[in-house]
Amino acid sequence: MPLSWAPDTVSGVVDLATTELERGGELLVKKALAGLAHGACLEVRGESPHLRTHLRAWCRGHGHELLPSTDRNLIVRGHDDGARWSNATRAGAARASEANAVRDAPPPSWGLAARGALVEAGTREFHFHLGRKDELWADDVGDLYRQALASQWDPERAIPWSAVLEHPAEVEDALVQILTYLIENETAALVVPARFASQVHPHFRETMQLLAVQAADEARHVEVFTRRALLCRAELGTSSAGGQASLQTLVEEADFEMASFLLSVLGEGTFVNLLTFLRRHAPDDCSAEIFRLTSQDEARHVAFAMAHLMRHARKNPQLRERFANAVEQRHDALRDTAGLNQEVFDSLVLLAAGGWSRPQIERGHDAVVELTREMDIGRRKRLQKLGFDASAAAELSALHTRNFM
Ligand SMILES: [Fe+2]
Ligand SMILES: [Fe+2]
Repeated sequence: MPLSWAPDTVSGVVDLATTELERGGELLVKKALAGLAHGACLEVRGESPHLRTHLRAWCRGHGHELLPSTDRNLIVRGHDDGARWSNATRAGAARASEANAVRDAPPPSWGLAARGALVEAGTREFHFHLGRKDELWADDVGDLYRQALASQWDPERAIPWSAVLEHPAEVEDALVQILTYLIENETAALVVPARFASQVHPHFRETMQLLAVQAADEARHVEVFTRRALLCRAELGTSSAGGQASLQTLVEEADFEMASFLLSVLGEGTFVNLLTFLRRHAPDDCSAEIFRLTSQDEARHVAFAMAHLMRHARKNPQLRERFANAVEQRHDALRDTAGLNQEVFDSLVLLAAGGWSRPQIERGHDAVVELTREMDIGRRKRLQKLGFDASAAAELSALHTRNFM
């Protein structure tokens, strides 16, 4: 049989010595072939008596050739597996800062592949509802995600749970009622980003990660509000039908941008004012620290919603019209509900009052009225940043749910 190779055409040698091909030897052969040009010959040496048989089978399975030879030499002609990857697509670039790294509409066939990976042709399609850059991307989303991670806090260590509590029992009752209300609002704020996180095309990795951290923030808020409420009381306060009706309109909003606008721009934005107020009037160091830390988290949630919605509203002015419609529809849907739980309003007054004397109650009432004014100013500012003029912003702010969130 004529030799189909000549000894001087061998471009490389790999010596497996006593290593069997199926015990890591194939990795050594692959590595040696990878260093050679397409079609080049590799001499494989080894002491295993089965090497020729195993190598022939391995070559067949991997598209290489074991060349016929009459002596003990084993010569493999390598064929790179370029064909397999010739129709593959580079799924953008891993680093969002690289030009064209994040695509406007990544194909469903990129699926779960890491952004920047080489994706084999024929990969099955995944169906993510949120797959367009305009609807979910913010240019600083990577920075916001890193800030969110750096700002995580451990409730056990961050909160002074054994702080002295010296306030009147009625003020504690008011605080427990407010916390009960906060818990259900935080639950809505957890459910919404958690749901959308699972719908984001993983190409938009930073948005997916940020929503996941946001949900984790809310889980922590639920925990600390619950733990503080149960610090001195065996039972929680009331949950009103009107409050839950308001939250249901958020939880059931199917459109990410509308949910983000209603929940984060209007609701969580309003909550930043509420939590700041609660910190100012907190009757003890423990609750003051809880309200300080949770308001910081909320400010981040608002910042992301503002960033991605401002980006989109700049490119698509019709988005504002849809926002306005969403506020009006929500207002109409809640027209016949009470809005804020009356017990919550009364509790806010009593908390700010600090006691039941008439001057205290007057002061507490004035403080809550001032709070609602601050909330309105904040909402109008954010609406104007999204491009609404002053009068439209005032009108929409006035239609925001009385439940605050
Ligand atoms: Fe929260
Ligand atoms: Fe939040």
